[in-house]
Amino acid sequence: MALLGVNVDHVATVRQARRTDEPDPVWGAVEAQLGGADCITFHLREDRRHVNDRDARALRETVNVKLNMEMAATDEIVAIACDLHPEQCTLVPERREELTTEGGLDVVRHRDRIASAVGRLKEAGISVSAFIEPLSDQLEASAAVGFEGVELWTGAYAHARTDAARAESLSSLAEAIETGSGLGLTVLGGHGLTYRNIAPIAALGGFSEFNIGHSIVARSIFVGMREAVREMKRLLDQHAPKLDRA
Ligand code: PXP
Repeated sequence: MALLGVNVDHVATVRQARRTDEPDPVWGAVEAQLGGADCITFHLREDRRHVNDRDARALRETVNVKLNMEMAATDEIVAIACDLHPEQCTLVPERREELTTEGGLDVVRHRDRIASAVGRLKEAGISVSAFIEPLSDQLEASAAVGFEGVELWTGAYAHARTDAARAESLSSLAEAIETGSGLGLTVLGGHGLTYRNIAPIAALGGFSEFNIGHSIVARSIFVGMREAVREMKRLLDQHAPKLDRA
């Protein structure tokens, strides 16, 4: 069964809506771990619009499962990551005007800059993953620049409006899992996954982990973070291919 990474950015988004000190994403991370999260993910954006430097330090000090830092491949953020030392960094594209990360990193186009960030992070002993679209040229470039893993952008699947579009995006993901695994990459998935759309993607098998943020934080408002995480873990288990089941 795939592991579950819980992205706590949106706990901080609610806090920042009032520029106060609650809710605390660090508390959110504790509750998520008590609900069974296998990984805590946060995105330290260049504009610090939700998670800030204090959150990043406090998460590092308190999280007992794998800590995954999403980040742009800039000098400033790479230096912070090397100092903070999360178990994993996921390089993502970042645009100030976007609501959340939209689409994958273009590893083919920005190969040199990305290779240099990957080298610095790996030298610091951090495992590095690329958030990319499920395209073979991006997978090949990711393996070539030294990424150990890729997180496949599941947005096309999540946003598909027709059964045909959903089926097509699932088959691109299945193909990318095969290509990625063949290249020796660990394959994760994320973006736009919800309690309603997780079943077919969990049933694909091959994803070692999913990173889910908005849907879990949204549900936590009504049932609490622990229960929200437990429910998602249950779905991942229920829909995992039989051989994968816990
Ligand atoms: N994975 C990555 C790399 C992301 O940037 C995001 C969005 O912050 C997610 C997963 C989680 O997406 P969502 O909030 O739609 O579950």
